[in-house]
Amino acid sequence: QKLYAVIGDPIAQSMSPIMHNDLFQFYGIDAHYHAFAIKEKNLEIAVNGFRAIDLAGFNVTVPHKVAIMPLLDEIDPLAKSIGAVNTVVNVNGCLIGYNTDGSGFVHGLKSKLPSIVNKKVLIIGAGGAARSIYFTLASVGVGTIDLTNRTLEKAKGLSYDCPYEVQTSILTLSEAEEQLAVYDIIIQTTSIGMAPQTECKPISLHNLRENTFVSDIIYNPLETEFLKRAKERGAITENGIAMFVNQGALAFEKWTGILPDTNRMAITVQKQLGGK
Ligand code: ATR
Repeated sequence: QKLYAVIGDPIAQSMSPIMHNDLFQFYGIDAHYHAFAIKEKNLEIAVNGFRAIDLAGFNVTVPHKVAIMPLLDEIDPLAKSIGAVNTVVNVNGCLIGYNTDGSGFVHGLKSKLPSIVNKKVLIIGAGGAARSIYFTLASVGVGTIDLTNRTLEKAKGLSYDCPYEVQTSILTLSEAEEQLAVYDIIIQTTSIGMAPQTECKPISLHNLRENTFVSDIIYNPLETEFLKRAKERGAITENGIAMFVNQGALAFEKWTGILPDTNRMAITVQKQLGGK
């Protein structure tokens, strides 16, 4: 039996084991996926342990996505440019790091929209999640990607670091609110709206255009205040289950060669979160 894992700290709440073990069973693969809580100081020992037991692959989550990189043998170019790894594949003892967070998001987006070519995108936030989504979207090509964040310097840093050609304006939160109607796709990546501060939202949506695609990467709560308001204004909304499920699906594909059924994965996760 092959063994897979996720490492992070904390990790008890991770839905990855349930999601991946369900897929292994569904596709008849003799494998098991386990969550390990690993303290930062023990990361290197953990990776050596994984090498010793020839673990087939693992996911990496907070706080190890950056620190894992020097401990691996190879890093995929997109993961290198993002500066973070969330998926590791063991190929004959060689540990290769990938980032499927941004590509998972983009994969989900492409499955929902007929085309993302020439679309005007706004990303709210400039943390790690925004970075992976921004670089990946820039690498596949859209129309424009504007960035807005409470701390403008961080948004400027993202734009400066991006290795892919894309037209970007950096906007204050109020400038973004003002010109919200120009966007086709709006992606909320800040932690605002996450339980327990569920009443807050990062920007006001009074200028939102009907039928804009609005995505929030938060999945707890399943519908943030931001998404609720967007829906009220006629937007097409998507919660963070999409990105979570798709990053997992792309990891699963790298490990097994099978691109799994993301609807099935979303149902597994939703059940776990107490949704429908
Ligand atoms: P992640 O890796 O999940 O993206 P992060 O790197 O901590 O998390 O980034 C959090 C994002 O949420 C940042 O864009 C942060 O804005 P700042 O760069 O100004 O800190 C944003 N954020 C968090 N709390 C916020 C708040 N109360 N108001 C506005 N933005 C907030």
